[in-house]
Amino acid sequence: MSARLIDGTAIAQGIRAEVTEQVSGLRARGVVPGLAVVLVGQDPASEIYVRMKGKACLDAGMHSETVVLPAETTEEGLLAVIDRLNADPAIHGILCQLPVPPHIHAEKILFRIDPRKDVDGFHPLNVGKVVLGDPTGFRPATPYGVQQILIRSAIETRGAHVVIVGRSNLVGKPLSNMLSRPGPGGDATVTIAHSRTRDLPALCRTADILVAAMGKAEFIGVDAIQPGATVIDVGTTRVADASRPKGFRLAGDIAFEPVREVAGAITPVPGGVGPMTIAMLLVNTVQAATLAAASR
Ligand code: GUN
Repeated sequence: MSARLIDGTAIAQGIRAEVTEQVSGLRARGVVPGLAVVLVGQDPASEIYVRMKGKACLDAGMHSETVVLPAETTEEGLLAVIDRLNADPAIHGILCQLPVPPHIHAEKILFRIDPRKDVDGFHPLNVGKVVLGDPTGFRPATPYGVQQILIRSAIETRGAHVVIVGRSNLVGKPLSNMLSRPGPGGDATVTIAHSRTRDLPALCRTADILVAAMGKAEFIGVDAIQPGATVIDVGTTRVADASRPKGFRLAGDIAFEPVREVAGAITPVPGGVGPMTIAMLLVNTVQAATLAAASR
């Protein structure tokens, strides 16, 4: 039987509608949530994401500022931009699109962002707050989006065995923490697997919920799926495809066609986790603006 397809675009639209409502509430109190997105260089995928983030802000009634800098920008130059945005009261959230060019230390930039404006949730203060369960900490958008997909698709995490393949700071590590915390979308038993895990397919077959987040196109096959399991695909890799107008297609980490025949529910790529990340970025920006307004 074919798996239930989880429509991330529809879930994200619902969240964005909720955000739009919250923004009008804030605007009525004289607060316009503002997000600044900084892009260094001309990575084509990053350019698309940055454009989409700016448009999503405007659609929700927020203030949006996009700062595009040449690839040769120095670390000092970029830090000066971050300092300006840190000091700008119209900006509640700051995001520096990754990857940055190799001569810039990403950590140095991310750690310079005021933690109160760190809507990516990459600053150590927010990482620590999320680990401690402090609700004022910003949850990184991708794992936050995965958790919301599970909650809003009525997929029970409580007592479930979740296997996350991928141990990145962006996804695997924060997601394992969020899903094992007490409460809705939590209370799971989480295993983090990675490139050194022994007999990965056998481990994955013990998962009630399998999250693939290692960025290897179609790496996880049907031999890794427990029949009826929920499969969440975080991967998006450009794969050359001469039959497509752009010469490539987007592939997830899951071999979608065979896996959908065995899984109980599955997120597609595109149209699964991807749209959720922008929705959750907006949620975090509203959180930042709300906290800023409360501390005035
Ligand atoms: N590049 C890919 N994903 C992300 C993300 O979530 N945040 C930032 N800043 N850059 C990214």
